[in-house]
Amino acid sequence: MPDEPFLAATKASYDVMAAEYADMVSSDLDAKPLDRALLAAFTELVKAGGNGPVADVGCGPGQATAVLRRLGVDAFGIDLSPGMIDLARRTYPDLRFEVGSMLALGLPEGSMGGLLAYYSIIHVPWERRSEVFSEFHRVLAPGGQVMLVFQVGDDRGHRSEAFGKAICLDWYRQQPDEIANLLRRAGFEVWATVTRQPDAAEKTPQGYVLARKPLSEPVELDEARGLADEGLYVRFQSTVRNERGYFTGVFGLVNGLARNGKLTAEQERLRRAHNDWYNAAYPDPSSADPTVYDRELHPGAAAWFKSTSRDLIKRVDGYLEILAAHEIGWRMMRSSDPGRIVYEDEYQIVVVPHEAGPGPSAIRDRDG
Ligand SMILES: C[S@@+](CC[C@H](N)C(=O)[O-])C[C@H]1O[C@@H](n2cnc3c(N)ncnc32)[C@H](O)[C@@H]1O
Repeated sequence: MPDEPFLAATKASYDVMAAEYADMVSSDLDAKPLDRALLAAFTELVKAGGNGPVADVGCGPGQATAVLRRLGVDAFGIDLSPGMIDLARRTYPDLRFEVGSMLALGLPEGSMGGLLAYYSIIHVPWERRSEVFSEFHRVLAPGGQVMLVFQVGDDRGHRSEAFGKAICLDWYRQQPDEIANLLRRAGFEVWATVTRQPDAAEKTPQGYVLARKPLSEPVELDEARGLADEGLYVRFQSTVRNERGYFTGVFGLVNGLARNGKLTAEQERLRRAHNDWYNAAYPDPSSADPTVYDRELHPGAAAWFKSTSRDLIKRVDGYLEILAAHEIGWRMMRSSDPGRIVYEDEYQIVVVPHEAGPGPSAIRDRDG
């Protein structure tokens, strides 16, 4: 079933080392009191929600699935590797284990009370994590809980050997705050982010994030965007004024982070990709009129999308994701008359804000 090279490689690697890996981790949790305590808290929250089964996603040999069951929830395991699933079924014949991928769980929408991913998102490329978290959000019932456990860090790497066997396995470390922000963007409420220092056998701190799917869904950004009717203009900008007294747009905020060397390599790659996309997709006002952003001529000049430019507005998400990871707030504004128009094309206008008057209204706030 895995149709993508990284999934096929991960599956084959765990298939080949399933028995040795299982031996290594079989009594792992006995020496991890914090993990056991957090698993207990997680199952307590699931039970309080009264929401049904818990999937241990990337369950491997199933030892955490068994712990969940002992803690009193209806737990079963899912793993990419059929070798791991065979082994888990033999070790825990009373439990249910299925082959599956966390990118497409094959579970009905809203059917799960909880999801545990115990050291399994570590093999998902960073840029695919949002997809995984959306899938988790889809299958969880409102109020359903998610718990993620991973090695903390900024590195990624590759292993070509384990237990004397040839494998082909990529791994990715994670920052708890970045995970928390990605979960929020997928619609979760984050309850706890915990970092524990490494024990004698570990090379990095270990991270734990617990979050829940809200009981009622907030207004989605897309829905808020739907408020931006024809004839209106839309702008994403900072929540605080810059030193010149104006609100910097989200493109400027992200480019500023890049200039100050604040972006991770992955964020910088995404920023460049998004900038390239925008540069190709619509005209740059200052190429058409070099004076458009002249501070003397046009103080506070700011670009606003025409609300009909839906494709352009949608791509802002990439920048918002980077701002969220840096805990920088933003606000989506709309107005039918944001200022004196000094430039216009099919997709956007550039305006000098009106001195006074009703001004634009915020339709969506995101605190940093
Ligand atoms: C480091 S092991 C952890 C296994 C187990 N949770 C434990 O702690 O011992 C990672 C497991 O995640 C599984 N895995 C990796 N990527 C996956 C994916 N996309 N979907 C489902 N399982 C995946 C692997 O097959 C492997 O069994």
